[in-house]
Amino acid sequence: MPPSLLLLLLLLLVCSSQAHHFYGTVITYYPKNTNTDGSVKVVLRYKLNFHRCREIDSWDCLSGDCGSQGSVMLNQVDGDSREECQTEGIETRQVPSDASFQLVLDGGRWINNRNGITSWRAVTLVELKSRSDTGKANTSPQTTFLPAVRVPSNCQRDFNLLAFDPDGDEVKCRYGSTSHTSQKECNPCTPPSVLTLSSSCTLSFSATSTSDQGLYAVQLVMEDFPRRTITLTQTNGVETTITTNDAISKIPVQFVLLVDPVVSSCAEGLYLPEFLPPTPANRARLYTSVSQSLEINISAQASNSTISELLFSGPYNIHHTTVAAGRHILTWTPYPNEDGESHPICFVVQAVSNSTIYQSELRCVIVTVGPDPTTATPTTTTAASTTTTPLTTTTVETTTTAPTSSSQPTTIISAVPTTTTPQTTTSPPMTTTAALTTANTDGATTVLSTTTITTTSTTTAPSTTTPATATSPSAASPTPVINVLNKVIVGLRMKISSSSPLSEDYVRNTVIPQLKEELVRKGLPADIRLCRVTRV
Ligand SMILES: *[C@@H]1O[C@H](CO)[C@@H](O)[C@H](O)[C@H]1NC(C)=O
Ligand SMILES: *[C@@H]1O[C@H](CO)[C@@H](O)[C@H](O)[C@H]1NC(C)=O
Ligand SMILES: *[C@@H]1O[C@H](CO)[C@@H](O)[C@H](O)[C@H]1NC(C)=O
Repeated sequence: MPPSLLLLLLLLLVCSSQAHHFYGTVITYYPKNTNTDGSVKVVLRYKLNFHRCREIDSWDCLSGDCGSQGSVMLNQVDGDSREECQTEGIETRQVPSDASFQLVLDGGRWINNRNGITSWRAVTLVELKSRSDTGKANTSPQTTFLPAVRVPSNCQRDFNLLAFDPDGDEVKCRYGSTSHTSQKECNPCTPPSVLTLSSSCTLSFSATSTSDQGLYAVQLVMEDFPRRTITLTQTNGVETTITTNDAISKIPVQFVLLVDPVVSSCAEGLYLPEFLPPTPANRARLYTSVSQSLEINISAQASNSTISELLFSGPYNIHHTTVAAGRHILTWTPYPNEDGESHPICFVVQAVSNSTIYQSELRCVIVTVGPDPTTATPTTTTAASTTTTPLTTTTVETTTTAPTSSSQPTTIISAVPTTTTPQTTTSPPMTTTAALTTANTDGATTVLSTTTITTTSTTTAPSTTTPATATSPSAASPTPVINVLNKVIVGLRMKISSSSPLSEDYVRNTVIPQLKEELVRKGLPADIRLCRVTRV
């Protein structure tokens, strides 16, 4: 019998016991290039919301050929001092063909909730075939959400989700389903009784009984539909017809809704903070250029409560400054490899009175990295290169132009982490740098983005950590280094072979504890946690 092989990507986390920690997730994707051999590079960005950032997880392949994970970078977005914390993962995948595939996030327990959702589960459908209307691979709807939003039980409130589609598609929302195309989208999917959802992605909460107060898990699915029938063509020639009733891709949007105790007035500006100018309107479209900082000024007031903080969700490299009570600035500077893309940012302002927390309405904006079509002087742009796309559901914008992504399909982009890690070393905190470079067909190489990675301690080749019954573990290739709040120390990729089958239980109860023991023996703190991230 051949030895069974197990390839593990392990993350060392400084974290405590695993409990009921999940607060939801969101994922979006941007295709980068389709090569002539049909292989595609796709960048997935996902938010993971957990109690105090104590856990992380990664997306696994559910169906189709999901290709290989090039690099993963995890960074905290917001939530240092709060119960719930958001981390953003940016993952580059190299997929061998432009056929669609599905990814799944499937793991432990949701935070305890009123609608009885037990386990976390979310499914993404990535479609990368070439569209007949744009001549490019599809991009998912772009949205984000906070880990948790709250409303007093006696107040009415609409949550208008950002539902922007870079291809100009119609974006619709529905609840996740356990019967959808035979792959269940959540576990289970029971929607909160206190919300109603419109297909245009507005979740409405109406004043309800105090007995409905509590925490709800909201599990939505957002999909993009073409505005007229299109064909999707794979590089192997296979064509699929997509009508206006067919979703092209789908993404999960999962978060927590807290229904709070009664407030004496629901009027904005008393207990619930009220936004003031120049805070951008919900679903506003903003523009900035590569390396050009965009400042979003947010101002809010509340007369019968004290504004305490701003909560936000967006790219991990958003910088937050509190200027004065109720005045905040979010600053975001896009990297060159984000040129032409549109990224979502959402925020709420929170206030406190007599230990009770109150939130403003949720506002979201979409930031396009490129020239502002409303101010840019029209030059010699040919009609063919500017496609006017229909509106999404926003009430803010009038006409929009398709993102003028200047990336030629001949550009080859590759992620080259210049850092290598696994060596048998125990080292003091060190900082290394990874660069994303592009090699153009003319041979020129440009640095697309530079990422500073802080590793706080040890990387250990597993050669000395042989679990009792496993034979000849061998260190495989260096893994992407992962950085969460400087808490994750490093990723280890290791291959363990065993003469008997390596069951899940065996890995969890024997292999991982033995590895941990060995790493602690080598000097890591005793409270590290080893998390298995992927199994290939
Ligand atoms: C944003 O706030 C900063 C600092 O208070 C100020 O200098 C800037 O003019 C403001 N921008 C807008 C658009 O209000
Ligand atoms: C808000 O505060 C003012 C001044 O303290 C008070 O008179 C008013 O009753 C409060 N409003 C509510 C709805 O509690
Ligand atoms: C503050 O909260 C406490 C406990 O809930 C309550 O007894 C008290 O009346 C509240 N005070 C005010 C000013 O609302």
